[in-house]
Amino acid sequence: MKFFLDTANVDEIKRINELGLVDGVTTNPTIISKEGRNFKEVIIEICELVEGPVSAEVIALDTEGMLKEARDIAKWAENVVVKIPMTEAGLKAVHILSKENIQTNVTLVFTVAQGLMAAKAGATFISPFVGRLDDIGTDSLALIKNLRNVLDQYGYSTEIIAASIRNLKHVEEVAELGADIATIPGSIFPKLWSHPLTDAGIAAFMKDWENFTK
Ligand code: E4P
Repeated sequence: MKFFLDTANVDEIKRINELGLVDGVTTNPTIISKEGRNFKEVIIEICELVEGPVSAEVIALDTEGMLKEARDIAKWAENVVVKIPMTEAGLKAVHILSKENIQTNVTLVFTVAQGLMAAKAGATFISPFVGRLDDIGTDSLALIKNLRNVLDQYGYSTEIIAASIRNLKHVEEVAELGADIATIPGSIFPKLWSHPLTDAGIAAFMKDWENFTK
């Protein structure tokens, strides 16, 4: 299972990357806006920090605009991936970009049909949004499971990035269901290696050792 960091915060990326846990990074316009930095500069900095794919999203909503932005973004770094929204215009752009060997991540996927369309158009990655489906009371885990089955059944190499991850349980569940990647916010990542019983156990061992060596 691969882990991406769902952030544009360079300090978060550096911290978790030092543990050897970061296989890539995803961003979106909201995530970029939180950093208050120049889009291109921050993406280039992240691409230098991380060896794996770094997603940078287009803003245009029409195919021509998406292609113009995508071809520019693709020149920023070798490991940059262009994130494209799941629309008709987006599918057309993905199809053209795939023929130009530009890697794409189709975002805002909420159904198996959308994921299948994106894979067929030539997407390198698709991003089904787990948390946002949970928010509206839809079974997000069924989506991951069914996407896995459908892509495998028809032999698509498109990778599933489970996105909109909100808690530790989400990560465990999408891992069990066979998502290729979970993209995890910096605030959630430390929860993957922490447990209160680990902390309590360390404290008890330290106390007992202190009493023993007094
Ligand atoms: C990543 O590719 C997505 O843009 C991100 O996971 C969305 O997360 P959110 O639903 O918490 O905004």
